Amino acid sequence: MLSVEMNERLTRVGKGTPCGELMRRYWIPIAPYAQLLENPVKAVRILGEDLVLYKTTKGALGLIGQRCMHRLVDLQYGIPDEEGLRCPYHGWLYGETGECVERPMEASPRAKFPRKLPAYPVREMGGLVFAYMGPLPAPALPQWDHFVWPNAIRQIAVNVLNCNWLQCQENTGDPAHSVYTHGYFFKYILEREGGAERMESQTHTLHARTKWGIGIKDVTANTTQYGFEKFIHFSQELGAEKDLVRRHSTVVFPFYTSTGGPGSPRSDYQARVPIDDEHTLHITYQVYAAPPGVSVPEQNVVPWYEPPLHDEKGKPILDYVLAQDALVWWSQGAIVDRSKEALGRTDVPIILLRKQLDENITLVEQGKDPLNVFRTGETTEVLFGAGKEPKDWTGDPATYRPPVIGQDYRRMYHKGFAIDDADRYGPILEQIKDLHRRIEEAELARPKPQEKEGALTQA
Ligand code: FES
Ligand SMILES: [Fe+2]
Repeated sequence: MLSVEMNERLTRVGKGTPCGELMRRYWIPIAPYAQLLENPVKAVRILGEDLVLYKTTKGALGLIGQRCMHRLVDLQYGIPDEEGLRCPYHGWLYGETGECVERPMEASPRAKFPRKLPAYPVREMGGLVFAYMGPLPAPALPQWDHFVWPNAIRQIAVNVLNCNWLQCQENTGDPAHSVYTHGYFFKYILEREGGAERMESQTHTLHARTKWGIGIKDVTANTTQYGFEKFIHFSQELGAEKDLVRRHSTVVFPFYTSTGGPGSPRSDYQARVPIDDEHTLHITYQVYAAPPGVSVPEQNVVPWYEPPLHDEKGKPILDYVLAQDALVWWSQGAIVDRSKEALGRTDVPIILLRKQLDENITLVEQGKDPLNVFRTGETTEVLFGAGKEPKDWTGDPATYRPPVIGQDYRRMYHKGFAIDDADRYGPILEQIKDLHRRIEEAELARPKPQEKEGALTQA
């Protein structure tokens, strides 16, 4: 439970609010770059500010206030120019600094105009556009692993959710929810919707998830270099199959969740970007990587899609993982009143998440840089968000060491498991299935460790 004041402190993101000022210290993903290829001008609302993202005819990106200074026309209908964005009404031209650099038909069209529109630096990385909305100079744009991992194909799912960003992010501090949200609840939905055939194909995942609810001895969490990680401890004595500790997705501060790992057949970053206090831009950045020797199709543009959360009658669609998560987040309310909650032992990681958030807000209040702000220049080295840096990483796919083959159903999309999550709506699903088929073939063809050893001995 939190006090009303602390709840406000951790959730509100407007300019001048404690959390809003923290958020303004980060490069924030605001849109798939592919959206600008469909339309070079796009209205975006981020941290409660209405802005327009645009691509000039020379290919440069800009992000400026949404209303023309002349007579306040909405610049999302503007005309991209060589040097900026031109208002559709009388042609005033705005450069990337928000300055009005030309006013056609005025007595001195190029004379300096005394005011400027708000404007923020923007950069593209891995098919996503990032904006920095804080005090200058901007820090380095961190190269989180999934955005730059080689020999991979990608797609970006985006959704606007009607709730505060922290509700989505707290889900990452909640490793136990899978048992019900993606287990029993999923099963219930399929039963209700007559998905017998579907149920058959989901048996493996549904069974695995409901089983995770049995024999929980403890739930723990600890901070990491870039955020925190959490674990469920299972005990045979309490009914689990064996004593076991399961590690779950990792928080990359302040708004990412990292699943999978570098080079694995399916990983993602889920970014919970605050649109304003009561809306979140949920970006699921999906990466499908292959080991050396298995080629991935060339991808000139990372495509985007919007997984549907409602059917044509407005009823929630609930038969896949992301939609189930979205439901439990927004159904808590626009901003959940945490002074009324009753936390249990499975919420231990959530308490750490809130503490980490509060501590970093305090750092900003003290004039210091918070966690994951890097000042090393234009870019950083590759950063392994989940803290699983491969020992032999050099950035070259030839140095890749294949992951240990696990039981991850997400690597078996070619066997029908893709329908479990949002990926099933993605534009590159057939490419992913083909890739996973070829990865499996390569893994099966790989010499087993003892055969390898024998070969070495003979040599
Ligand atoms: S309203 Fe934009 S130029 Fe006149
Ligand atoms: Fe979930």
